[in-house]
Amino acid sequence: MTTRYRVEYALKTHRRDQFIEWIKGLLAVPFVLHSQPTGVFESRTGTVAQMAEEAHRRYAEIMQDVEDMIDDHIAHQKVGLHSQSKLKLLVPTIGEFFTRLPLADAFRYQDRKRFISSRRFVPPSFNDIRLILNTAQLMGLINAGGVDLATFDGDVTLYEDGKCLEPTNPVIQRIINLMSHGTKIGIVTAAGYTEAEKYYGRLYGLLEAIKESTILSPSQKENIVIMGGESNFLFKYDPTSPYLLAHLHRRSWILPSMSTWNQQTITNLLDLAEVSLRECVANLSLPASILRKERAVGIIPSEPGYRFPRESLEETVLNVQKKLEMSEVGKLLPFCAFNGGNDVFVDIGDKSWGVCVCQKYFGGSASTVDEGGSIRGDRTLHVGDQFLSAGSNDFKARVVGTTAWIASPAETVELLDELGAMMGAKKELAAGKE
Ligand code: IMP
Ligand code: MG
Repeated sequence: MTTRYRVEYALKTHRRDQFIEWIKGLLAVPFVLHSQPTGVFESRTGTVAQMAEEAHRRYAEIMQDVEDMIDDHIAHQKVGLHSQSKLKLLVPTIGEFFTRLPLADAFRYQDRKRFISSRRFVPPSFNDIRLILNTAQLMGLINAGGVDLATFDGDVTLYEDGKCLEPTNPVIQRIINLMSHGTKIGIVTAAGYTEAEKYYGRLYGLLEAIKESTILSPSQKENIVIMGGESNFLFKYDPTSPYLLAHLHRRSWILPSMSTWNQQTITNLLDLAEVSLRECVANLSLPASILRKERAVGIIPSEPGYRFPRESLEETVLNVQKKLEMSEVGKLLPFCAFNGGNDVFVDIGDKSWGVCVCQKYFGGSASTVDEGGSIRGDRTLHVGDQFLSAGSNDFKARVVGTTAWIASPAETVELLDELGAMMGAKKELAAGKE
């Protein structure tokens, strides 16, 4: 019973994205009906081109239907009835949409790139749909007015897990290009350090490139902050500071609702997290050291080069998260327990707060703000790699802005190229109309 519960509940439901799985299921039907695997050895079934054309038409129709259903969900959202939309009934985990998602167009774009409709044996996959959703999100943002704030996770999104953003990283030029269009940038990472030097060590390639850039004006260069420890330490780019970063005191940037996070509650939450991490280390016999910080506690390998089994990392995250959720202190403070690939951390706050702080920080100089003076969610894009509902940290950003789910630093570069092309096309169109 226990084992079955664990497999079904913990490892399956939480390791799947319900919305993506649902779309995958819808596309599986035309795949089964129209793909022609026998075409590999017999000619009666028509050419690949004919099959691809038919599959393409059917897939696009389905994506259009889903797009219409999202429009209906947004209409419900606007009058406070999103829990009654048809989409909500079909996909109970669905949240808020900040922009429309032109899924049919996004599908056509990705089909040209990935030849989804030409496949006879492999149906539209999780990754196909994830990338279609990313493209649709970029299209939605551009149609709604553009990206005023782009926030990026660090590990896996900008650089390989545990590595640094080196000067040769192709993402640097893409970020500078975005900044040259007036977009503000936040690096919203779980990596929690109090010293500028540590962040410089992780991000020096980007910081030095901004300093040397001739395409950015001095004021555009100011448009980047680093939000560390999910939502705990804020640094701004400053060419006159050592390591090009100036630490900003918490009292100068915290949101009013963060002022209740007092030291005693923080200590209590981290104490409890530490106890349950220690229990997991003992129960799973992990060669791990506990790392306690000002605003976080985690486990890291105690032997250099050791890699924790994936199952142990997941078990630890789900255990700690449950224990904190059930506790009194867990109800007083937001926290984020996540699997960092080869470590597990519990941080105070989460990336929804981190992105919110960036929205507020840059709100004063943005053209479109909400009533609180912050950059709006429909003008914000958070790019990250951790979007599963349990044990992931980027997932939390979904409640404050639009998101793109990438799987590697190379995908981030591709995404930014896509965005750059869309921004360029929009500019050309606007110039043509003048
Ligand atoms: P991210 O992908 O940029 O959010 O970075 C996550 C990684 O930062 C984790 O997997 C850890 O290896 C590392 N890290 C360093 N310090 C901290 C901390 O205080 N909290 C959480 N993660 C940390
Ligand atoms: Mg990451």
